[in-house]
Amino acid sequence: MSERTATEVEGIRVPGDKSLSHRALMLAPLARGTSRIRGILDADDVRSTAGCLRTLGARVPEDWSGEVEVPGPAELHDASEDLDCGNSGTTARILSGIIAGLGVEARLDGDASLRRRPMERIVYPLQAMGAKIDYEGEEGHLPFRIHSRATGSLRTMRHIPKVASAQVKSCMLLAGLAGGVRMEVVEPGRSRDHTERLLEAMGAPVEYHPVGEDAPLDEGTHVTLDPEGWDGRLEPLDFDVPGDLSSAAFLAVAALAAGRPIRLPGVGLNPTRSGFLDVIRRAGARVEVHDERSSCGEPRGDLRVEAGELRPFRVEPAEIPTLLDEVPALVALAARIPGESEIRGAEELRVKESDRLALLAENLDGLGVDVEEREDGLRVSGSEEPLRGSVRTGGDHRIAMAFGALSELPANRIEFDDRECVGVSYPGFWEDVRRAVGG
Ligand code: S3P
Repeated sequence: MSERTATEVEGIRVPGDKSLSHRALMLAPLARGTSRIRGILDADDVRSTAGCLRTLGARVPEDWSGEVEVPGPAELHDASEDLDCGNSGTTARILSGIIAGLGVEARLDGDASLRRRPMERIVYPLQAMGAKIDYEGEEGHLPFRIHSRATGSLRTMRHIPKVASAQVKSCMLLAGLAGGVRMEVVEPGRSRDHTERLLEAMGAPVEYHPVGEDAPLDEGTHVTLDPEGWDGRLEPLDFDVPGDLSSAAFLAVAALAAGRPIRLPGVGLNPTRSGFLDVIRRAGARVEVHDERSSCGEPRGDLRVEAGELRPFRVEPAEIPTLLDEVPALVALAARIPGESEIRGAEELRVKESDRLALLAENLDGLGVDVEEREDGLRVSGSEEPLRGSVRTGGDHRIAMAFGALSELPANRIEFDDRECVGVSYPGFWEDVRRAVGG
């Protein structure tokens, strides 16, 4: 068997889903017994969550190579030192909900990139519930202190955020859960529903309408968590974390650009996250899903992706929440498809780990690709010309991986100012992307 075929048959197993790894670790200490979690993503962002949880009194093991046992219920207490959220917005935003709900005291901080990201979107609604939170640096940003609070002093709430954000929705649901008050979140779009699925698997009184494959994309989300009449017991998790589709996307793009098929076993296929697959299908890729199964309500399957005749594509605003973190991968793909591709309604990308729209445009331009940056998206005129130049990552893992999907192709010569930043979500990326293109 040639090496090419061997790689395709075995496939590349991407690391565990980042969103689900954070959530499983945060929910486990609240359960009434020991949770068992397999396939946790071992990367800097999830290590940040684990570190914060330990400071709050949870017992999270150091070794994540096999099954991780997290005992519950943990007596979470005031944090004796700062909670360092590192580069992770998910850690800062979702954990704040649990801390505020429990009424313990903590000061949260993060790295320079995280300090630039907006926190008002969680601080304001938590304050409206009755939490006392003070900014200790710039208004609206980390660091901030959540003060301790008497039990029973939180108000029930109906929150209607302006943008669809799973981190905001999860923060509020977990504040309601930990604080024992009813919480309703009405979102304008379809943000990922991992928190709802895990809570449901644990027996929490959460009501939502899981988005089916055929649900209209512009349908918002409406979630209610009502602890009235519930005994407050959360069942421990017994959970197989699926592979991260957001990581798999970069390998799929690398393989598509190289014109070779790729197999990606055990990848998460939650329909609130799978918009990337719809777009590459529209662009002419053949996508097969085999052996679909699920754990704690989270579906996963074995993916096979193969390039057909690739054509330019458009991504519409209503799709953005379902492929939010995959936009950089799609932009890299667009750069390799002759013709004009377009992404609209993606202004949230400006407040991720970097201003992703600006950095994608700057770097494509630097590599000689015709690109137009718009307030809410990009227009990319792709070609098959070799790409030469250097990439400024801004320390953003997904910018590095987007151009990493192109840099391993034999004709291209692309330098990076920082290759290590992939470590927040995908430490083995460079090795895997080389395999994806057949190297
Ligand atoms: C995440 C939600 C998304 C995504 C982020 C992870 C989560 O952000 O970009 O990488 O785990 O909840 P939003 O809060 O903007 O949806």
